[in-house]
Amino acid sequence: MILVTGGAGFIGANFVLDWLSANDEPVLNVDKLTYAGNLATLKSLEGSEKHIFARVDICDRAAIDKLLAAHTPRAVVHFAAESHVDRSIDGPAAFVHTNVVGTFTLLEAVRAYWGKLPEAEKSAFRMLAVSTDEVFGSLGPQDPQFSETTPYAPNSPYSATKAASDHLVRAYHHTYGLPTLTTNCSNNYGPYHFPEKLIPLMITNALAGKSLPIYGDGQNVRDWLYVTDHCSAIRQVLERGTPGETYNVGGWNEKTNLEVVQTLCDLLDELKPKAEGSYREQITFIKDRPGHDRRYAIDAHKLERELGWRPVETFETGLKKTVQWYLDNQSWVNDVTSGEYRKWVGQHYA
Ligand code: NAD
Ligand code: TYD
Repeated sequence: MILVTGGAGFIGANFVLDWLSANDEPVLNVDKLTYAGNLATLKSLEGSEKHIFARVDICDRAAIDKLLAAHTPRAVVHFAAESHVDRSIDGPAAFVHTNVVGTFTLLEAVRAYWGKLPEAEKSAFRMLAVSTDEVFGSLGPQDPQFSETTPYAPNSPYSATKAASDHLVRAYHHTYGLPTLTTNCSNNYGPYHFPEKLIPLMITNALAGKSLPIYGDGQNVRDWLYVTDHCSAIRQVLERGTPGETYNVGGWNEKTNLEVVQTLCDLLDELKPKAEGSYREQITFIKDRPGHDRRYAIDAHKLERELGWRPVETFETGLKKTVQWYLDNQSWVNDVTSGEYRKWVGQHYA
């Protein structure tokens, strides 16, 4: 089996669903279930022997040791993290705790477990850490895209803690020989995305008749990748990547935030027209995020060249699927937006 951390979050849960739809190999899903983790996403796996869920904090060494000893996974895919930049600005401590101390604790537990495996299993073992393009910092409009050799220059508490996590993973390969792999991916979007991030927030606000808050001038650029394309990239790297290497994952879709939100409004106008007017009328420009990175862009040639990976979805096909999914799954959105989440949103956008 494989052990997945953070498998109740947005990408982790999509990965677990994707894995089990294509694979007989069971998944041990280790997740603390913070506000961002939700078992409703995994409802279709209820009763399945292939999905074992453990509500465990990755900072709990004894609990992780126990799980590794009991389930003897052949690989670990590490998604668990605090992942929202705005929350990292409001309260960085949780980010240091999970993203730095948590990754360190997991690495220590995995190193001890891996060290005792028989030789064949030891060399086949892999630990894949899922990271972000944000560790590379911010690009100017004409700068080349981030490559695997771009120096790290994180600017937010979120990206700084992810960078620390990546450095620890690198060091555990270099120092102890742990067979690690790292993926640095651009912004994901798709089903089960928590409505605090740009795309799901805009869809849910639009449908609720609320304003669509765009930071600054709306000209910040992100590269967008449909989540199942990220899942397929992770599978490829896990099976065929070279230990110690890092792989950039991206969608070849650079868009300004304003373009993204306008496209979402146009899709909603088509799929769920308002009685009067366009959703674009709800767009509002608000005070910029502190330290807001201007542009992220990913060069994913290495993954294509070495492992033959290309994304399947274009921005147009992926975004249409996403909007349709949110229209069809309003009950999921209502379930995950608990009172605590609403309180945070109220404070943050006050
Ligand atoms: P998410 O916030 O939706 O989910 C994170 C999951 O981790 C949640 O289920 C949460 O309960 C769990 N978790 C948090 N702290 C934990 C702890 N201490 N112990 C155990 N579980 C814990 O995040 P996501 O968007 O699915 O991102 C997953 C990973 O991918 C993260 O490492 C993130 O940095 C990385 N990433 C995300 C994106 C993106 O666009 N969302 C892009 C590139 C990389
Ligand atoms: P986000 O989804 O938070 O991802 P990240 O900051 O990790 O890239 O934000 C994507 C972009 O959208 C980012 O440039 C910030 C911007 N944004 C807004 O303009 N308004 C919002 O309410 C949010 C959440 C994000």
